[in-house]
Amino acid sequence: MTTTAIVLASLAETIAFGRQLGRAARPGDIITMTGNLGAGKTTLTQAIGQGLQVPAECYITSPTFSLLHEYPGRMPLYHMDLYRLADEEEIEALGFEDYLYGEGLCVIEWPERLGSLMPAERLNINLRFAGETSRSVELTGYGDGWRARIPPLLAPAAE
Ligand SMILES: Nc1ncnc2c1ncn2[C@@H]1O[C@H](COP(=O)(O)OP(=O)(O)OP(=O)(O)O)[C@@H](O)[C@H]1O
Ligand SMILES: [Mg+2]
Repeated sequence: MTTTAIVLASLAETIAFGRQLGRAARPGDIITMTGNLGAGKTTLTQAIGQGLQVPAECYITSPTFSLLHEYPGRMPLYHMDLYRLADEEEIEALGFEDYLYGEGLCVIEWPERLGSLMPAERLNINLRFAGETSRSVELTGYGDGWRARIPPLLAPAAE
């Protein structure tokens, strides 16, 4: 487990970082996002969608009520928001495990609800308010795969 701290000083920086994440994503990747309400998890996911080439007409909206949205892109994007779920039993009942180990990129807001279903291999992105438009971000790679993949994510984005 390795943690790298970065600052996303503006909305534009968050979007550039998200695009980079989307470009670097591989089928079966899982990104969990932690942080308070309004920290920027859905905003970052929208930018990941751009990097994944999700068509602009497939506007990425918060799955707070539907729990899961799926979008077409270079690979499918499965976007979950588990805020409203009580526990992992509910997640099992909904069949979400199929998405965790599917062929797309899985982005999960409020992954705390996963309990014992928390995947061993994942990138966790923790977002914290550092100012009105500034966010402190911790990137933690769980599992061997992510360790080497974090530094290239931070290289200046080739726009
Ligand atoms: N640097 C930044 N990064 C991300 N969002 C920012 C930044 N600066 C300002 N914002 C704004 O903060 C808000 C973040 O809201 P968003 O819905 O993405 O949060 P969230 O973490 O998904 O919240 P929730 O837990 O309710 O789902 C947006 O209105 C966004 O424009
Ligand atoms: Mg959200």
